Amino acid sequence: MLVEDFEDKHVVVIGLGYVGLTLGAYLSELGFQVHGVEIRDLVLDSLNKGEAFFWEPKLDELIARNIEKGSLTYSKEIPESNHKRVFIITVGTPIDKDKNAILHSITNVSAQVAEAMNDGDMVILRSTVKLNTTTNIVKPILESSGKNFDLAFCPERTLEGAALMELGALPQIVGAASSRARDRAANFFQQVTPNVVNVSNIETAEMIKLVDNMQRDVYFAVSNEVAHLCNSQPIRASEVISAGKLGYKRTNLASPGPVGGPCLEKDSYLLSESMEGFGGLARIAIAARATNENVITEASEFISNWINKNVVKSRKKVVVLGVAFKGVPETNDLRGSPSITLMDSLSKILGDADIYCWDPVIPHSELELLGFRSGSTLSQVLLDTSAIILVNNHPYFDNIDLVSISESSDGPLLIYDFWGRNDQNLFLAGNKQYYSWGNHSKGSFGVGGKN
Ligand SMILES: NC(=O)c1ccc[n+]([C@@H]2O[C@H](COP(=O)([O-])OP(=O)(O)OC[C@H]3O[C@@H](n4cnc5c(N)ncnc54)[C@H](O)[C@@H]3O)[C@@H](O)[C@H]2O)c1
Repeated sequence: MLVEDFEDKHVVVIGLGYVGLTLGAYLSELGFQVHGVEIRDLVLDSLNKGEAFFWEPKLDELIARNIEKGSLTYSKEIPESNHKRVFIITVGTPIDKDKNAILHSITNVSAQVAEAMNDGDMVILRSTVKLNTTTNIVKPILESSGKNFDLAFCPERTLEGAALMELGALPQIVGAASSRARDRAANFFQQVTPNVVNVSNIETAEMIKLVDNMQRDVYFAVSNEVAHLCNSQPIRASEVISAGKLGYKRTNLASPGPVGGPCLEKDSYLLSESMEGFGGLARIAIAARATNENVITEASEFISNWINKNVVKSRKKVVVLGVAFKGVPETNDLRGSPSITLMDSLSKILGDADIYCWDPVIPHSELELLGFRSGSTLSQVLLDTSAIILVNNHPYFDNIDLVSISESSDGPLLIYDFWGRNDQNLFLAGNKQYYSWGNHSKGSFGVGGKN
């Protein structure tokens, strides 16, 4: 069946952030009639120009085309309609400074949907939430309207930077409040992806999303634990990990490095909070978070100690490279950026240092608008620096000629690479030194080496 003839083709997406805008544009391209609702002017202003307020491959193209066609419309409030509609809630679900879920966007938006929906509409919660949020918070608000509705929780599981490609390919988890709602939501997502996975209830679907992100955080934490342990030994974590898994599939560790982004920094806390009052503890999730959060803390102490020991006060200039929260797939998202945490930490510890940053995706003018020091070219930013810190894993940094940079520097220079890209092949001497995360004690080179 063509989407145009599909009975649930009228969709309202509420919250046009990274998730909602991408999903809305994708659905409109498939033939759905999509209306996006967003309260932030910045988001609406960029839509008025036919583009997204963030960078996601091919997204601007879809937005411009579907706004032009009239299949993607938007406003600040939910418009009235006589059509049967599907409301998809994609508002943010951040945590506060005590790591507790902030719920007001979910409650506000549920009240707006309760007011705007008609009898027989479907509501799909897609934001990542603490367990039981759909049933205990969203459902009673919708029920207070006295209207009949179908309710489902269908989590977003795409990767920023690859979202449009993944939306049509990833299995879509569907958990619903009734078998009718489950069939309806499954039918809806079958128009989007060939793989729909129905689960027993809403809570199972909520849990799957939390477990997905907890597992990913734990996966990185194991490697960061290895790096933390190797830092005190003359052993390179990068070699322990790469050599240890050569031809040996039972050990499959990631590269150690900073873990950031808007999801991993919060979702294990949402999982942990979900268990409060139930006697369960998300022990591994919380230990993994602490291990990943320690990466920047431990590295910034090491970096500041090196600078304080080797660089005179007047020459303390640090350049942080790769400010987006990740480099692969590339993004300009600064939420949960390890570089920003690192810059804050270094400026607190060092006090008197000049801290600059540069990113291959985010223009220097944008970084400067946000209050960071930057420059129009990498070589301009690197001028007279005493420390170069490679933070994210953008491939642009694989090819920087660190040897010539260090040769042209006339003072002490620390090159610190969180990803250990040059652990095996960069030998600096004297007051120019190379270190990496997981290699703070300088693993010595013996008979081994690259094969
Ligand atoms: N970013 C990702 O790649 C990703 C991936 C999977 C899941 N998630 C989850 O999806 C959810 C959304 O994430 P995001 O990154 O898109 O967040 P976001 O903060 O970028 O977007 C949320 C948007 O909702 C808007 N909003 C809030 N209240 C509103 C209201 N009452 N009416 C209209 N708009 C309103 C905000 O202004 C904001 O633009 C979160 O729960 C997140 O954990 C995100």
